[in-house]
This record gives sequence, structure tokens and C-alpha cells, in this order.
Amino acid sequence: MHKSVQDIVNMKKEKKKISVITGYDYTLASLCDKAGIDVLLVGDSAGMVMLGYENTIPVTMEQMCMFTEAVSRARNNALLVADLPFMSYQASIEDAINNSGRLIKAGADAIKLEGGSIMAETISAIVDIGIPVMGHIGLQPQTTMLSQGYKVQGRTKDSAMQLIQDAKELEEAGVFSIALEMVSHEVAQIISETVSVPIIGIGSGVNCDGQVLVVQDLLGMYDKIKPKFAKRYMNLSEDIVKSLENYKNDVESSTFPAEENWFSMDPEELKKLREQIGS
Ligand code: KIV
Repeated sequence: MHKSVQDIVNMKKEKKKISVITGYDYTLASLCDKAGIDVLLVGDSAGMVMLGYENTIPVTMEQMCMFTEAVSRARNNALLVADLPFMSYQASIEDAINNSGRLIKAGADAIKLEGGSIMAETISAIVDIGIPVMGHIGLQPQTTMLSQGYKVQGRTKDSAMQLIQDAKELEEAGVFSIALEMVSHEVAQIISETVSVPIIGIGSGVNCDGQVLVVQDLLGMYDKIKPKFAKRYMNLSEDIVKSLENYKNDVESSTFPAEENWFSMDPEELKKLREQIGS
């Protein structure tokens, strides 16, 4: 049985830190799940790391449903949360409910959407129909990026007050958790201590209730952007490129495939074949 939303909420009460990792495809998500990660997040960062877009703006519902289906086939243990992409929930509450439902039908247990107080009514409506919601405040790639670029949030008293207010309103609206992106660590700590739902930090310091990373950043597979907050646990892209160069050399020198990689005919059958074709 995989983890439930309530299990994740309880982890904060039990003072257990929550590990979250993004997942978009079957193979990597299976490994993340096997490692015991608590939450798999099908983030719209898929647009950048899987599809090569400059940002998350072009990501569609169809793409998010496809990634969610793949990850849902991979997970056995983790809770599965999927992102609503840009413009799938902002225009109307009806859009938000319909598209949340699509992600749930694709295999998600809960959805995540970006926005503070302004999204409270939408979140309440989704929660009211029974779909758990993770909020996302601080740097909001779908919109903050359009106006400000990558900028640490909550460095002044006023912006900190706004973030604390946003977190409280999301909690009141019924979120089970909040992702907090690139917020000064002092404000992240205050928010984590202020609201009862788990705060999942990314670039927001160690005092959040849990952490989330993009799996390609953690494995060293995506070089286009290297955020200061993303710890690289390995340099997989170097190993992958080396392996592919070795493969190319092996093909060119006929070292691959070798006998253990091919299949043979029955010798008697081969003899008969040669006789028949006269070779
Ligand atoms: O899309 C994503 O990967 C995210 C995380 C960075 C929180 O929203």
C-alpha cells in the first residue's frame, strides 16, 4: 500500500522530515520509489528537463497526464502528486476542477498548483470535491518567472509578511502541504513553525518540514541551469556520455556485438540452408 496524504501530514506531527523528488518517466520513477522517497512529484519542470522548453509555460495537460500515467505505473510506496500546468486552472474554478480530475484519473493522488491568497478560493473548491491539493508559493515559475526571473523571495519584511499570509490562507483553504520555492531560510522557518501542514522547501533552507529536488539536478543530468540550492549527488551526464562514446567506438571497431550478444542457427539447419542457396 502506498503512502497517503494523511501519512505525509502525520510526518510533520511526528517531526519526521519528508523527502520529495520529481519524477516524469517509468524507469527513473521506479528507482526513486525503490529508494523509499516519500513523495513523487510529477512537476511541470518536466517541460524543461524532459521536453527541452526554456520554462514551464508551454506545458500542456496532455503532457502532464502522460507523465503522470508513466509515474503511476512505477510507484508502489510513494504518494504521487502531479502539477497543474500554466493556464489549466487560472482562468476559472471549473477549469481547475476538471483538470485536477484529469490528473487524478491519470493516477495522481493529489495535485499541486502555484499561487498564494489569490488561489485560495480555487483550492477550496478542488478540496471540497475531494481532491487533495499541495500549494506552491515563493518563487512561482509559471508566473514569477515572467516578471522577475529567478529571484529569492521573502528578503524584505513586507514580502515576508505576504508569504506568511499566503501560507496561512492556503492552510485555511485546505491544502495538505505547501511547496516553498527559493524563500530566505529565516522566513521559511517562520512559515514552517506557523502553519500546521508540512512545508516542502526547495532552495528555502533546512528548517522546512521536507525537501524537494528535481531528479535530474540531483543526478547531475541537466546542465542548462545549475541552481545554487540543488545538491548534485553524482555526475551522471558525464558517465552517460562516456558510455555512449564507448558504444560508438565498439560499433566502429566491430567489438560490439560480441558472441554473447547474438543468436545462432542450429548447425544442421545452417548446413541445409547453405546447400539450398549454394553457398
Ligand atoms: O515542477 C517542479 O519541479 C516543481 C518543484 C520545483 C517544486 O514544482
